[in-house]
Amino acid sequence: MRNIDEDTITPAVLAAMAKCGNERLLTVMSSLVRHLHAFARDVRLTEEEWHQAIGFLTDVGHITDDRRQEFVLLSDVLGLSMLVTTQNNRKPAACTEATVLGPFFVNGSPGYENGDDLSNGARGRPCFVSGRVRGLHGEPVADAEIEVWQSDEDGFYDVQYTDADPAHQARGRLHTLPDGRFHFRSILPEAYPIPHDGPVGRMLDALGRHPWRPAHLHFWIKAPGYEPLITHLFRNEDQYLDSDAVFGVRSSLVVDWVEHPAGMAPDGTAMPSAFHTLDYEFVLNPAGQGQ
Ligand code: BEZ
Ligand code: FE
Repeated sequence: MRNIDEDTITPAVLAAMAKCGNERLLTVMSSLVRHLHAFARDVRLTEEEWHQAIGFLTDVGHITDDRRQEFVLLSDVLGLSMLVTTQNNRKPAACTEATVLGPFFVNGSPGYENGDDLSNGARGRPCFVSGRVRGLHGEPVADAEIEVWQSDEDGFYDVQYTDADPAHQARGRLHTLPDGRFHFRSILPEAYPIPHDGPVGRMLDALGRHPWRPAHLHFWIKAPGYEPLITHLFRNEDQYLDSDAVFGVRSSLVVDWVEHPAGMAPDGTAMPSAFHTLDYEFVLNPAGQGQ
């Protein structure tokens, strides 16, 4: 393999991998090489730009640690995360749509009973959330695990505070009742900028893009016999619904969060100030039924 030129470099790299014993790896890597080479030819990538790209990816690596995942952010703002989510969650139109997981989910969040307050001291306007989980044919899904997480009134998740005390705020797990219903108290999520003090933020700036996500509440719903559902519910009046930095908004997930004056909350609590309520029905796809 000598004297490789601009035209023969692509088949040469593909030929070098031909003995790969892993069929899927070979498919993925061959396609990656073909597309990377096509990209470099398409834009006539200069050596200076190649160095800049290596420097950028090095910065992405340097800022990434256990609490900050800049590679996921990069995938999110390039639309790759949402593309992967969408093409792996094809399902009947009646099912609730999926959207990105995001970097603020944490394993091991606290368990709660229906009616509990998940805010656990997080600051924000009170909000009472209720809903129902059902299957595609209308059947209630009892004992589904519902995991929720959200931002506070300043647009931050608990994991973004280095001094978070207690550790888990505005996140938790609960289960649906025999009729598929669930309800809990929390706070109203607010719009927030994705972390933008690193290389991804500088890239957004250079591209004339903003880092904001519209206000939303994250859900991860799991029940035996159904596909897991990772999604959000968005607040319908948010100014960023049509310019979400990570392209995650679906019209079916934009819902009315009703504002109420001071008075009686749905759970009978006397509320001295205004509060919101949200009610939503989630429809799960039976396992093995993806389209
Ligand atoms: C989130 O919704 O938590 C999120 C998603 C993608 C990037 C940053 C945050
Ligand atoms: Fe979020």
